[in-house]
Amino acid sequence: MPSLILTLSPLVPDLRAFCITTCHTFTVKRHSSSKRWQARQQKDRYTREATVQGLKSRAAFKLLQIDEKYRIFRSGQTVVDLGYAPGSWSQVAVDRTKPNGRVLGVDIIPAQPPRGVSTIQGNFLSAEVQKYVQGFLCDPRRGRPYEDGYIMPGRGSEDFSQHALDIEAGNPGANRESDSELKTVDVVLSDMMMNTSGVSFKDHAGSMDLCHAALQFGYNVLKTGGNFVCKFYQGAEDKELEKQLRELFRRVHRLKPESSRNVCAAHESIIGVR
Ligand SMILES: C[S@@+](CC[C@H](N)C(=O)[O-])C[C@H]1O[C@@H](n2cnc3c(N)ncnc32)[C@H](O)[C@@H]1O
Repeated sequence: MPSLILTLSPLVPDLRAFCITTCHTFTVKRHSSSKRWQARQQKDRYTREATVQGLKSRAAFKLLQIDEKYRIFRSGQTVVDLGYAPGSWSQVAVDRTKPNGRVLGVDIIPAQPPRGVSTIQGNFLSAEVQKYVQGFLCDPRRGRPYEDGYIMPGRGSEDFSQHALDIEAGNPGANRESDSELKTVDVVLSDMMMNTSGVSFKDHAGSMDLCHAALQFGYNVLKTGGNFVCKFYQGAEDKELEKQLRELFRRVHRLKPESSRNVCAAHESIIGVR
């Protein structure tokens, strides 16, 4: 049976709960400020550790925890990292798929690609960008690093806008029809998050759009046995996302990794293992 770790939303406060909170305001305040203090300390610890290890951000530890638990990576795999910037998940993917793995990062913002990662800059909600990414992946040699970790001088990073015309003109690979030719990917990661507005239902809806785009892409490109990891902003629609994953993957795990507990309470990850 899949293990399912669910985070419960706070209950609607009833009268008794209201009485308890008002009677113990001082205790509750101390408790929550000490929790915040603990969370800050933990955040700092991961940030420091990321710097020591040469990782682009502490987000790497979330993915390391996921891999430790579910073994999503193997050497030689093809990994697509959606919303890769600044690149710590990609760094983990390069390390866990070496030797001979290939990692392709996609992000809407320009960023310096981590060593051993090919990147495409573009909005992943655009169908053209998705087609371009699929075209890139069709050639299994494309983006695979040499032994020294470099990909191809001057070809490691691509700006999608420069290739829009290629696609219109029929980029080889971008318009391939055959399903099996498209299924070249072992792991799809998505940590795509737009800037949050502070309005939780809006942030949740935006996050779900990104997750659904990632899942649809995963469905198109993942090989049998491929894995999917997606981080999202919790809310009313995440049950539906989970349901869709359960239809597509043999096992589905939902978790709040240790490194984000108490720090970023609204962010959860969902993992599909085929
Ligand atoms: C939380 S950061 C990712 C951190 C990354 N996993 C790491 O470990 O360094 C979220 C990223 O998603 C990207 N993003 C948001 N919306 C996007 C979109 N529509 N298409 C592509 N990337 C997007 C943002 O630009 C941002 O770099």
